[in-house]
Amino acid sequence: MNSKRYTITSALPYANGPLHIGHIAGAYLPADIYVRYLRMSGKEVVYICGSDEHGAAITLRAKKEGITPNAIIDRYHELNKETFKQFGIDFDIYHRTSEPLHHQTAQEFFTTLYDKGEFSERVSEQFYDETFNQFLADRYVKGTCPKCGYENAYGDQCENCGTSLSPTDLIDPKSTLSGNTPVLRETKHWYLQLDKYQPWLEEWLLEGKKGKWKNNVYGQCSSWLKEGLQPRSMTRDLDWGVDVPLDEAEGKKLYVWLDAPIGYISATKQWAEDTGNDWTKYWLKQENDEDDATLIHFIGKDNIVFHCIIFPSILHAHGGYILPDNVPANEFLNLEGDKMSTSRNHAVWLHEYLEDFPGKRDVLRYVLCAIMPENKDADFTWKDFQARNNNELVAILGNFVNRVVVLNRKYFQGQNQAAGAALSNPEAQEALAQINEHVANMEKALSQFRFREAQAEYMNIARVGNKYITDQEPWKKWKESPEAVAEILFVCTQIVAKLGVFAKPFLPDTADTILDLLKAGDLGLTFEQARAEHILIPEGHQMYAEKENRILFEKIEDEVIQQQLDKLANAKAAADGANVPAAKEEVTFDDFQTMDIRIGTILEAEKVKKAKKLLQFKVDTGIDVRTIVSGVAEFFSPEEMVGKQVPVLVNLKPRKIRGVESQGMILFAEDLQGKLHILDPKESIDSGSSVN
Ligand code: 2FM
Ligand code: ZN
Repeated sequence: MNSKRYTITSALPYANGPLHIGHIAGAYLPADIYVRYLRMSGKEVVYICGSDEHGAAITLRAKKEGITPNAIIDRYHELNKETFKQFGIDFDIYHRTSEPLHHQTAQEFFTTLYDKGEFSERVSEQFYDETFNQFLADRYVKGTCPKCGYENAYGDQCENCGTSLSPTDLIDPKSTLSGNTPVLRETKHWYLQLDKYQPWLEEWLLEGKKGKWKNNVYGQCSSWLKEGLQPRSMTRDLDWGVDVPLDEAEGKKLYVWLDAPIGYISATKQWAEDTGNDWTKYWLKQENDEDDATLIHFIGKDNIVFHCIIFPSILHAHGGYILPDNVPANEFLNLEGDKMSTSRNHAVWLHEYLEDFPGKRDVLRYVLCAIMPENKDADFTWKDFQARNNNELVAILGNFVNRVVVLNRKYFQGQNQAAGAALSNPEAQEALAQINEHVANMEKALSQFRFREAQAEYMNIARVGNKYITDQEPWKKWKESPEAVAEILFVCTQIVAKLGVFAKPFLPDTADTILDLLKAGDLGLTFEQARAEHILIPEGHQMYAEKENRILFEKIEDEVIQQQLDKLANAKAAADGANVPAAKEEVTFDDFQTMDIRIGTILEAEKVKKAKKLLQFKVDTGIDVRTIVSGVAEFFSPEEMVGKQVPVLVNLKPRKIRGVESQGMILFAEDLQGKLHILDPKESIDSGSSVN
């Protein structure tokens, strides 16, 4: 925190869907807390975000809905911009990568790198969909991840393990347009020679950021560098995106991961133009190093390689730009023990939360900060949300502030009484010393991106306040010594004021309410004062003008939580229902009786040569021992099948599969995700037992 100027970015969300709490806990809330903290500490900060409006995610969604990409980005840009605003994320600008200023900025970058000879040109074979007559970049191809075996990995990245991929890395690739297996065709592209920057990255990142960047971030980067970087194409055969500014590249677009981070720069240019600032101070190296801005990217873990390796390489290759000082990436947030998913509608959508819980945005901020996935994946549950609201915000913070307000009104009509010897009382001194310690811990944690801990330290201030007032029992002293009560409440009022000021990064609405209750608006309290001084509210200050006490937090009842749980369950049922195949045509009982299904025992199992999906079994059906071929090799290994008992349709006409005669069919259950499961009887039974 030595620098005086900061450039803070939060990942530009794709404008192809609404925001959920996983996004917020990952890249937005931590940045917003940090920015508010920097601003309170007197730093010059620009906080940048906007919509990422290119890339296959947008065009695919548009195709699916049968509308133009423009209709998609306009809809979600507006929705997300408004939702962030309603939630109080304090961006200086929420820009868009579809703006001409952005296209121009991204093209300038490409041209500079091209002129400097930073790209290598390569003709290579890429996937092509012959039905749609289109090259298939990135997300237009799906298949099995070669690293973790996840079957729905995209051509640019596996969402399961986070590995960054090329479409040709995928096992069993399929076009997401036609569903067909694509063919390979030649095309020319421009590659950033990441291998060339490897030595520089080893010095700048591996040496320079060791012990400074979070372990999860540093670890991912070092494993990338250990594997050795490969040149990466910065252009694509797509019809949506920023045009490649070369005559010979007509019809080609910039790779979305080249243009998106440059979006931070174009957004800063737009902000500077709108506000009369100088964008270069926030991005370019200055004459003296100490005048350089500090650049910090807040992102989720799936964006690490782009922000820690590729974008810095681009900035380095371009020259003249500052590099990220830190990239405090977060892990993922799950919901009720399950991965959040847009397609399954398993999420808490931020715009819906704001509708369902009006006036309670600080509650969500509080809970998301308390469980922020800083070092490992975390889980949001509605029960925990309720418990943290009721047991922490209401019972600790709200309770303390409320007690002080009510007692001050009751005894002194809301006027801060003469301090007397209030602060020299040993218990008061002890409480204030403890508070100083919590504040120091809180600030240290904030400056090191440990937001969970920072907020917990903030709450400790309220805990000290509660303990102090409980121990002092002013309500018991009123009769014999009003002076003592005045002193106790004087100390408590100072603690409330501190809670108001220090709430600002975490709970901005609560901060406003507390400072309003104290009528402290005119006092212009700063972080600096709240940290250094014990007396923030002077003697004689008149507080709490309103007759009605303003409650900071209300208890959340079980019914409200149940409604949210029901909503999730309904969304799940609807999503599953959408996948449940329709019932087949009616059959008679006699039709059914024609099927002879028996329990068989698998004696042997092996793979069928040159057929990736097939296993060949020897099955004891009780009637005989026969050979059966099944397309289940992706789900089961031969070893795990031996000894299993399975239902077998034994009177199915034999048929040849890949040269092997299959004499019957083993029955499996296929779940809604297309995964097969073995239907074995609970206990071992005789082979040949009927299933009817
Ligand atoms: O993962 C994403 O949602 C990307 N749209 C993030 C882009 S961050 C930056 F580079 F723009
Ligand atoms: Zn994977």
